[in-house]
Formats: sequence, C-alpha cells, structure tokens
Amino acid sequence: MSRLLVCPPDHYQIAYEINPWMDVKKGADLTVARVQWTAMMAVLEKNCGATLERIEPVAGLPDMVFTANAGILAGRTVVLSQFRYPERRPEEAPFERWFQEHGYQVKRLPTGLYFEGAGDMLGVRDVWFGGYLQRSDIRAYRYVGEFLGREILPLELVDPRFYHLDTCFCMLSGGEVVWYPGAFDRYGQAAIMDRIPAAKRIAVPEEEAVRFACNEVCIGKHVVIPEGNPSTMERLEKLGYATHAVGLSEFIKSGGAAKCLTLALD
Ligand code: ARG
Repeated sequence: MSRLLVCPPDHYQIAYEINPWMDVKKGADLTVARVQWTAMMAVLEKNCGATLERIEPVAGLPDMVFTANAGILAGRTVVLSQFRYPERRPEEAPFERWFQEHGYQVKRLPTGLYFEGAGDMLGVRDVWFGGYLQRSDIRAYRYVGEFLGREILPLELVDPRFYHLDTCFCMLSGGEVVWYPGAFDRYGQAAIMDRIPAAKRIAVPEEEAVRFACNEVCIGKHVVIPEGNPSTMERLEKLGYATHAVGLSEFIKSGGAAKCLTLALD
C-alpha cells in the first residue's frame, strides 16, 4: 500500500520567481492546472492503487501543491522542511499542523539550516541520497540522518535548472536509478555510479531531463512520468515497469512535475 500526501491546486499560480523555470509574466493557466492535477490523481488512485491524503490548500501559498517539499518521513517520524526562500517559508506551519494532527512525531532542524524534504532526499530501503547547494544545505543531512536512522549520501547539484534532487534523479522500487548526469558534479556522478550498478542506471538525455523525465512517482511496478519522455518510458518498460504518462505543463512552469506533487507517507 502506498499513501501519498497531496494538495489541490486551488491557489496555485506563478507568484514569484525562485528557480529558472518560473516566469511571473508568463504565469500558469489555473484551469488547465486543475485538470492536469485531477487527472494525475486519478492515475495514482485507479491505475497505481495509491491512497491519497489531501491537505487543505492555503490562499497565498501557491507552491503548497508541491507537497514533496513538506518534509521527509520514516515510520511515524517526519523531519519538517526549512525552506531556503522566504516565499515558501509560510508553508512550514500548515504542513507541521497536518503532520501533528495525523499522529506524526515532528522533528525540526536547527534554525538557519535549509532542507526541502523529499524534493531533495530520495532513496529506497537503505540507499539514500541528499541533494544540496541549490536549496538544501549539506549540513542538514547530518541531522536528518540521525533523526531517521539513515545513512545519506550527499550529492551536489550544479545546474540551476535542476535545483532539487527530484528534478534530476529518481529511485525506483527495484533499486534502479533514473538520472540526468549533467546535473551533478564529477564527484556526485562517481558516488551514484559506485552505489548503483550500471544495469540499474537509466541516464536520461537532456531533452527529456528538461521535460522532467526524472520527476517520477514509482509505486511498486507502476511509474507515473510527465508526458513527452518516450525514450525514458521505453527503458522503464524494458525493466518491467508499467508507465503512465501525464500532462503537467502548468506545473513545469513552476519547476515541478509528478514527483513534486506528492509526498510518500509510508
Ligand atoms: N516553484 C517551486 C519551487 O521552486 C517548485 C517546487 C518543485 N518541487 C520539487 N520537489 N522539485 O520551490
């Protein structure tokens, strides 16, 4: 069973610019965004067997739809995010409230340390990676690792377009990695190649990386992936995954796609 926290896009918009994808002047179409979000949720529930938990959206917090950034969980413990940009910091309180009301033990990092949750920390079983530099601080992972009892391998993110680890890296349920090598420095590339055998690494080409091919939701043998990524889908299918392409153009305008719109609760 897979439970995911999601947030309806009632107040979604491009209200500020905190990554290279966002353009206030271009904006996003809210009507289209609602249709895309609802369609993806239907795929998660009906095709992938996921259970969705909905948090009430808050007016004035347009990026709350990207629940991956709320925190990271292990069991009943959640490490709450501390956003780098002041624009997103007011999201911390409603997410914290939701976790408390749903019986999670909330852990907070020392003030002044930035950490953006499951958007920057990805793994399966005992292999965990943490992206840093653009949003999360490398020092945060020491605390997160202690809170959750996990070893976390830090990966420096060098391309501003791929500012969260989940924009350029995904771990599938079978331990495979989908990644865009160009988003990492040599050391990070070597660390990934050292941990993940070649047969389990899917390197996506740049033209698909910019269509958020790495921003996938993997539930068992199902993978939900933004549309327009045929070569990545073909490789996933060869590994035995059932792929579900979803249109997410309006969310990509904010620098987010499938994975960013969900937070794994178990
Ligand atoms: N506009 C949001 C931001 O820049 C997008 C967040 C996308 N989330 C993610 N997990 N990559 O913070």
